[in-house]
Amino acid sequence: MKLGCCYYPEHWPEDIWADDARRMSEMGLELVRIGEFAWSRIEPEPGTYDWGWLDRAIDTIGDAGLKIILGTPTATPPKWLVDKMPDMVAVDANGNPRKFGSRRHYCFSHQPYRRECRRIATAMAERYGEHPAISAWQTDNEYGCHETTLSYSRSAAAAFGLWLAEKYEDIGALNLAWGNVFWSMEYRSFDEIDPPNSTVTEPNPAHVLDYRRFASDEVVSFNQLQADILRKHSQGRDIIHNFMGFVTDFDHHDVGADCDIASWDSYPLGFLEQYWFSQADKLRYARQGHPDIAAFHHDLYRGCSNGRWAVMEQQPGPVNWARYNPAPLPGMVRLWALEAMAHGAEFCSFFRWRQAPFAQEQMHAGLLRPDGEDDQGALEARQASNDIGKIRQTGETPKSVALLFSYEAAWLFQTQPQGQDFRYIELVFETYSALRKLGLDVDIIAPEASISGYKMIVAPSLPILTDALVKRLAQSDAPVLLGPRSGSKTADFAIPPELPPGPLQSVLPIKITRVESLRPGLSKGANSDNITRWFEHIETALTPEIALDDGTAMVFRSENIRYLAAWPSSEFLQGLLRKMTVEAELDTLVLPQDIRIRRAGDHCFAFNYGLEAISLSDIFAEAERFEFILGSCHVASAGVSAWKSSR
Ligand code: GAL
Repeated sequence: MKLGCCYYPEHWPEDIWADDARRMSEMGLELVRIGEFAWSRIEPEPGTYDWGWLDRAIDTIGDAGLKIILGTPTATPPKWLVDKMPDMVAVDANGNPRKFGSRRHYCFSHQPYRRECRRIATAMAERYGEHPAISAWQTDNEYGCHETTLSYSRSAAAAFGLWLAEKYEDIGALNLAWGNVFWSMEYRSFDEIDPPNSTVTEPNPAHVLDYRRFASDEVVSFNQLQADILRKHSQGRDIIHNFMGFVTDFDHHDVGADCDIASWDSYPLGFLEQYWFSQADKLRYARQGHPDIAAFHHDLYRGCSNGRWAVMEQQPGPVNWARYNPAPLPGMVRLWALEAMAHGAEFCSFFRWRQAPFAQEQMHAGLLRPDGEDDQGALEARQASNDIGKIRQTGETPKSVALLFSYEAAWLFQTQPQGQDFRYIELVFETYSALRKLGLDVDIIAPEASISGYKMIVAPSLPILTDALVKRLAQSDAPVLLGPRSGSKTADFAIPPELPPGPLQSVLPIKITRVESLRPGLSKGANSDNITRWFEHIETALTPEIALDDGTAMVFRSENIRYLAAWPSSEFLQGLLRKMTVEAELDTLVLPQDIRIRRAGDHCFAFNYGLEAISLSDIFAEAERFEFILGSCHVASAGVSAWKSSR
C-alpha cells in the first residue's frame, strides 16, 4: 500500500511548493491528489484557461518523485458558469434552488452543465493525460455529499419523464405498477409526472423508489461521461471516485463498475459522532472511532470495483464538520492507515497536507499545522510509512463470509420504514459488527455478485428478492441467513401476492401474515431483550429452529437457508451467527470488546480500539510463538500488531 496526501497548490504561495513536495517524499508519501476544486483557477474566465500554475504544480510534484491523482473540478463550478446558466443548480425537496457559495451546486440532470463538464474534463485530459507524473484521475468529488444526489429541478423532472417512458413504455403499465388507482393518482402521459416532493402527505412509495433509482442512474451516467473522456485521453491511468461513509443515496456498485478503483473518504471520529451510535459508544470510542466503522467501508468498497479499492482521504486529526470534534488518540492515525492496508487498500491518502488558515475548513486538521510545522498526523504518517516498509505479505486472503448489501434496499426502507428506527444501514452494520466480533473476515458484496467459494452468506435484509437469487442461495453449500423483511416487496414496491417472504417460500415454506414495529422499550416475548424494533408473525407448518420461551418464533430453517423474523439484539445475532460458523466449519475467536483481527494473505493483524492494553495470549493460545512483524503479544491502546500466520 502506498501513502499519499491531498494537496491544494492553489491555496499556497508557489515558492513553497517544492519544499512541500520534498517534505512529502521525505515523510514516505508517494501519491498526491490535487486539482479537484480548482476550476476558478483553471478557467478564470469563460473559455480562457490558465494552465501555467497547474503545469508548474504538476511538474514540481512530479520532480520530487511523487505520483499525482488529478481531480476533475466539476464539484465546484465557478461563479461565471452558474451566472451563465442559473438553472444548473439542484433544487431541494422544499423546492428551493441551492445557491452558489460553497460546493456541489449542480444538478446531475442539467444537460448544459454536463456539456460544460465534458468540456473541462476533455481540456484537462488532453493537457495532462500523458504526463508521466499523472498516475490516476479522480472524477468530481464525493457524489452525493451535502445531500446532493436527489434534485427536484425542472431538468430532473424532464429527465425522470424520459427515464420512466423508457422503463414502462406505456403509461397504463406505470399506473398499474405503481397502483395509481389509489387516491386517483393516475396519469395520462409520462410528461405529466412530477418528482415526488412537496406533496400534501406522503407520495406513492413506488413513485419515490423509481425516483431514487432514476437519481442513482443519473449519478452513474454523470460519472461515466467523465470516465469515458479520461480513459480515451489518458490510457493506462486508473479512474477513481471517492465515495463517502454511510452514504447510500446512489448505487455505488453501479458507479464503481465504471471505475478502476473504488476509493472512499475515511473520517472515523466524525462518522461516529454524526450517525446513529449510542451515547455510550460515542463516549467510549470518541477518540478512536467505533472499531468497525473504517473496516466496514473498506470491505464494502472492496466489493464495488472488482476488488481494487483505496482510501482517498484519511482523517489526520480533529475534523471541523461533526457536532463535536475531538482529537484522535495518539496512534490512531497510524492505526487507521495500517488497518486500510490489512483490508487490502492500494493506497491511503491523508486529508490534507497542511491545515488551511482560511475559509470553511480552517478548523480541520492537516498533517501539518497552518504554520507549516508537523502536527501529530505527520508523525504518525511517518510511523505508518516505516511500518508498511516492514510488511512483505504474500498470498490471497481466503474467502470466508459474504454479506449481501443492496443500495435499493436502503432506498426502499427509507421510503417506507414502518417504524422510525428501521434503518437498513444500521441493520447491516450491526450484522457486520457481530461477524467481526467473532473474528471473521467479511466481504460485503452486491446481491448480484458471485457467491461461489464463500463459506457463509448473510443478507441482513433483501426486501426485493428475485427467483434467481433464491435459487443461487439454495444451490450454495454455505449456510445462508436472510434477515427480517427479506422478500417483503415486489420490484414495483407492492406486497407479493403470495405474501412475504415472496419467492423465498419456494425453499422455506413460511408466510409472514403481520408485522409490528416496536418503539424503544416495547418488546415482544418473555426473553424480550432478544427482539427490538421489529417483529413478524408467521404462518407455517415448520417448527421454528429458534423460539423464545413464550413460543415466539425467531428463526426458521430449511436445509441451508435460515430466515430471521425480527430485528435481533446483538447478543442474539452473534449467537446465531456463531452457530452458523460451526456448520460452515469456520474458526471463530473470542475477542475482547475493542479488538479486531484481520487476515491478509499470510499475515494476521490485530487492532486495539480500546483504552487499555491487551495481550494476544488471551485470544490465541500460541501467541507467544508468533513471528511478529509489527508490535508484539502486548497490544497497547491504539496499537497494532502483525504476525505471520498460516491460518
Ligand atoms: C470530505 C471532502 C473534502 C473535505 C473533507 C473534510 O468530505 O471530500 O473535500 O471537505 O471532507 O473532512
